[in-house]
Amino acid sequence: MILPNFALRSALVVALVTALPANAAPTLVSQRSTPELSLPAQLQLADTTVERYQLLPKDEDFVYDFSKNPDLPFANRKSFPALTGYGTSFSLSALPACSMSFVHLHPRATELFALTSGRVLTEMVPEGNILDSDKKQRVIRTELHPGMMTIFPAGSFHTQVNPDCEPANFTAALTAEDFGISLVADQTFSFTDDVIARTFGQSISGKDIDRVKDAIPGATLIRVEECLSKCGIQKRQV
Ligand SMILES: *[C@@H]1O[C@H](CO)[C@@H](O)[C@H](O)[C@H]1NC(C)=O
Repeated sequence: MILPNFALRSALVVALVTALPANAAPTLVSQRSTPELSLPAQLQLADTTVERYQLLPKDEDFVYDFSKNPDLPFANRKSFPALTGYGTSFSLSALPACSMSFVHLHPRATELFALTSGRVLTEMVPEGNILDSDKKQRVIRTELHPGMMTIFPAGSFHTQVNPDCEPANFTAALTAEDFGISLVADQTFSFTDDVIARTFGQSISGKDIDRVKDAIPGATLIRVEECLSKCGIQKRQV
């Protein structure tokens, strides 16, 4: 660009010089007015760890109280911003009596699942090409008692069953701040009918597909009927 005269050039220099301080020393995210940014977002944007700690000035910022969040048994990046950037999240919860978690997987996290009370049966189907001695897909089944733990690698299909009349308390540590959950049946049956029919070797089609779709609970927890009657628990009590 050729500037027509000196006056204009000087004006440009002045403009550049006034713009410079902002470029040279950007304000820390903790000192900017950023009401539109959530705390986890600010923590992610912080230039240094020193600045991250300035965003969490209170000791209580480092405590997540599960007892005060019974409806949210997950400490993740959103509910517990202090863990932003460390690639983990944690759950402290209970599997109700006679319940089963729907077959699911976590797309971004490996889960360490440990029992503190009760009894839980788990099944886990790892990725393809992992075969048992009969050359069939390997299925890993465990029976956990208090003080025992199992691992569900990221992407593995898994489920937990509490077959007893008491709740089973557990903790779960996950290797992602936003672990995510996919419900295997619910999501498989979201494909178009043609795809579903081919996927299941044409053993199911048309009305049957609708029937199966309607029957899939779509919830993360389901009740185990035989157990409910064994324990004399009404379905709505659980
Ligand atoms: C299970 O957890 C609940 C809630 O934290 C607690 O009140 C209860 O005592 C625990 N049960 C056992 C057997 O540890």
